[in-house]
Amino acid sequence: MGLLSTLLEPLGPYCQELSKLGTPLLLVFGTVSFIVLSVVLNVLNQLLFKDPTKPPMVFHYFPFFGSTIRYGMEPYVFFQDCQKKHGDVFTYIMLGRKMTACLGPKGNDFVFNGKLSDVSAEEAYSHLTTPVFGEGVVYDVPNNILMEQKKFMKFGLTVETFKAYVPLIVEQVEDLVKRSKYFKGPRGTAPLSNIIPELTLFTAARTLQGKEIRDALDGSFAGLFHDLDSGFTPTNFLFPWFPFPANKRRDHAQRTMAKFYMNIVKKRRAAAADGAEHSDMIWNLMDRTYKDGRKVSDRHVAHMMIALLMAGQHTSMATTTWILLHIADQPELVKELFAEQQRVFGKDLAPLAYEKLAECTLLNHVIRETLRIHPPLHSIMRKVKSPMHVTDTNFVIPAGHYILGAPGVSAMDEKYFKNPLAFDPFRWVGQGAEDEGEKIDFGFGMISKGTASPYLPFGAGRHRCIGEQFANVQLATILATWVRMFELGYPEGCGVPKPDYTSMIALPAQPSMISWIKRDP
Ligand code: HEM
Repeated sequence: MGLLSTLLEPLGPYCQELSKLGTPLLLVFGTVSFIVLSVVLNVLNQLLFKDPTKPPMVFHYFPFFGSTIRYGMEPYVFFQDCQKKHGDVFTYIMLGRKMTACLGPKGNDFVFNGKLSDVSAEEAYSHLTTPVFGEGVVYDVPNNILMEQKKFMKFGLTVETFKAYVPLIVEQVEDLVKRSKYFKGPRGTAPLSNIIPELTLFTAARTLQGKEIRDALDGSFAGLFHDLDSGFTPTNFLFPWFPFPANKRRDHAQRTMAKFYMNIVKKRRAAAADGAEHSDMIWNLMDRTYKDGRKVSDRHVAHMMIALLMAGQHTSMATTTWILLHIADQPELVKELFAEQQRVFGKDLAPLAYEKLAECTLLNHVIRETLRIHPPLHSIMRKVKSPMHVTDTNFVIPAGHYILGAPGVSAMDEKYFKNPLAFDPFRWVGQGAEDEGEKIDFGFGMISKGTASPYLPFGAGRHRCIGEQFANVQLATILATWVRMFELGYPEGCGVPKPDYTSMIALPAQPSMISWIKRDP
């Protein structure tokens, strides 16, 4: 109080003058003074009070907003600048939250391998995901239930189902190209930002979600999906429950889509044992029982289906778009990919098949390299529940703060990958799968423990992605089909666009134009 009145004392005569000017001006003056004062106090606090037991704080002028804009616009530039200044561990302010970034392979390990008693993913994500997925699933349940739900979902992602999915994905790609206004005639240009979201949605819907959902996407379901998807916005980090019109549309879409899935479950139960195709995820989730004897309700089946659709759509859509943009930039690579198709499937290009896709090494290296430079999730967050000592430092991160991993930073670091910004699928030649090494089971099957790795596009630890194999089948099938259909390039003046991080996923800037020539017009 003493310091405050000393600071404000010189302003006394100005305040008297301003009081003559009336309420609106006083309000403006009051607001400006409040902002100036809080900036001054915030700066003084950072300069004068440094606590050696806490990670260094990234300098910022405005309390609450802190580094939100710098981080939100260019997360990698922000992380790399801070890393140069402060090392691998530093804290920054994002919308009032204290975020401690832990970079490099050790940082990846610290975040992904955080003990259940120390960190919580649900407290970091639930406010954003629960209104979209629905209650009772994923981050709206205790971690042991999430592990069981992941196990149920993983049961539906088997080699047998993948074999059945490959021809379904090919069919969707060919059908979309045939119907699209962007692919008329023997050659042309196309905006990938308009095409790929539908392509990945239709392929995931037809395979994982079943024929009913795929067919519904040609009607009102597409609009509902879009409204629900709009729930994932940076604003909703702060105001997920605020009745903005967009949030009302999100809630309506969530309820309607959940009902749609529940009706499918009901109909399928009624017509059980009909001998029809039973390979999709809805069949897999029906009639599951938790360890404590509770049955998974139809509502929770519906909510898990929504969660799977959402988790896979953004990540696969971003990756597919980046893959096509990078190969369009290297026409020689497209030629080699086509030659590989002919080598593996014969000159007449036999239909794609799951087992044979694994033999297409260049194709798989292209996917791997794309995920190195463009991991769709650039930030992995956990809320700290009890103070955490950062290995090899004096730092202790207090409860209530957040820790953040960004494996994309180590994946683009010269220390681990030579010429890290170049798109070079051949760098993976002779390298084993990243899933090798010690294994561990968190309750949803054995996974690689390798968290201290510089390359972790699918995460690690108890929250590791369960959709990795499905995503690889989907991406490989789409890429192979595309290469069989087209030669690719760029229209005059276009090239690989810059990433746009404003939607929280690392997407290429719109419209992402490419040019194409049909191999078989
Ligand atoms: C978790 C990446 C596709 C379902 C994750 C995580 C990452 C990731 C990094 C860990 C998140 C964390 O630790 O906070 C990717 C990438 C994909 C992809 C790069 C495609 C290129 C998919 C697909 C599905 C899916 C297709 C569904 C079929 C999930 C689920 C989780 C998860 C259920 C678990 C969340 C948890 O345990 O907290 N994914 N994913 N993902 N992903 Fe994926």
